[in-house]
This record gives sequence, structure tokens and C-alpha cells, in this order.
Amino acid sequence: MAVGIFDSGLGGLTVLDAVSRRLPDVPFVYFGDNANAPYGVRDAEDIFALTIQGVERLWSAGCDLVILACNTASAAALRRMQETWVPKEKRVLGVFVPLIEALTERQWGDNSPPREVAVKHVALFATPATVASRAFQRELAFRAVGVDVEAQPCGGLVDAIEAGDEILAEALVRSHVEALLRRMPHPEAAILGCTHYPLMESTFQQSLGPGVTVYSQAELVAESLAHYLDRHPDMLGGGTAPGFLTTGDAQRVSDKATQFLRRRIAFQSA
Ligand code: DGL
Repeated sequence: MAVGIFDSGLGGLTVLDAVSRRLPDVPFVYFGDNANAPYGVRDAEDIFALTIQGVERLWSAGCDLVILACNTASAAALRRMQETWVPKEKRVLGVFVPLIEALTERQWGDNSPPREVAVKHVALFATPATVASRAFQRELAFRAVGVDVEAQPCGGLVDAIEAGDEILAEALVRSHVEALLRRMPHPEAAILGCTHYPLMESTFQQSLGPGVTVYSQAELVAESLAHYLDRHPDMLGGGTAPGFLTTGDAQRVSDKATQFLRRRIAFQSA
């Protein structure tokens, strides 16, 4: 009854941590495509090809349901995967919608027309590919009217996080926040639209100031997965063992993951 969690690298561990806490009896198999990270500077075709390889690997590990714990893949590849590639008996879900439902105060499955919401100025921090896709604005427009979104492509940040270079990552967060605040001085909310960024959440919050509510995805995705599995218990796949798979160097990736999550994580070669 395993569920797959996919990311280009280590960022999806922030989601894995939250879903494991919310659903302690479900075995999760994590797949990090560390050899090909970051995805955020790749084109949509490339992201599609890499994402389907990773998802197929998780299907072969007995996970009929795979969560793309990667905004870049969710933005650039998910719609095409769902429309052209995912077979009927499998599911691939992304991480955008739970976040947008929280921002627009909607319950799951509320498909009523877009309406005015409390938040009017939203800062979006994401990878260059996610920003270029405009997927966030598109999903938001289905649910809310009158929300101004200012998006900041945070070039370099995923590389710094993957390399474990905290000093560089902090400097990049501060400069990306400053750049955004020059264009939108008073956002009410900020979206960390990349699953790597919660690892830098306190620097984002400090740089944005206490008046800005920072939304990060992990807990929202965990809650939404729990509801989904209540409604679709049949989507728990045949796998029974949890695990961590990587296309990168298993020892190096394990050491970094252990450093991020502050508990021992052992990756195996995918
Ligand atoms: N953590 C992923 C995301 O949410 C991918 C970042 C990347 O590989 O550039 O976008």
C-alpha cells in the first residue's frame, strides 16, 4: 500500500516529512532525481521526459499513486502527463492546488466560480521554469478574482540548497526578496512555490518581515493527501516497503538528506 513521492532532488523531503507525520501507517517511497537537478532551469520538454522516468520507477516500486512534490514538474509537466500519459489505474497528483485552495479559503473540490478573497497582493517565489509556466496564476484565476501576483524567479537557490551551501542560500533569499519587494512593497502573503524553499523558510520570513504570511506547501499537501486517500483507498498501491531512491550518488545524497531532516536517511541507487 505504498505511495510515491517524486522530486528533482532533496526539496520533496519537506513534503515527505509532513505526509509521514500525517499518515504514519502509509509506507512512502521517495524518488529524488538528484543526477538531473535542478529542473528549474530546464525546458518543459526536458522536465516532462525526466518526470515520467521517475514516476515509472515509483510505479515499479508498487506505488500506484505518485505525488509530484516538485512545483517545477507540477507546473511544466503534470497537465500533459494527466492528459496524455497516465493510465486509468494510476494517479499522479501535484502540489499546487492544495496551496491555492488554502490561499483562496476553499474546501477541497469546491468548483464554484472565482470570487473575491481576502488576500489581494501575493508574492510568489519559485524556480525560473515554474515562473515561466504561469501555472500558479492560471490555477489561481480559476478560483479568485482581483489578486495581484508578483513572481520572483529565484535563480541559483535550488543549486545552493542541493550543494548544502547555507551561506549562499541565505544571501540569495535576501536578494530575491529585496528584488520582489522593489516591485511589490507590501504583499500580504508570500508563497514558497518550490519544495526546496521551506528549508530556508525562516530567512524568507525574516527578509519579508512579520506582516507577511508565508505559505509553504508541506502541511497543506499532507492534509489534502489524507483526504484523497479517505476517498480513494484503492489508490494505495501494492508496495509494502518504504524507501529512498536517487539517480545521484547514494552516499552523498544520504548525507545531505540526513543534514536537512536531522535524522538518518539512507538512499539507494534508483
Ligand atoms: N523542488 C522542486 C520544485 O518544487 C524543484 C526545483 C528544481 O529542481 O529546480 O520546484
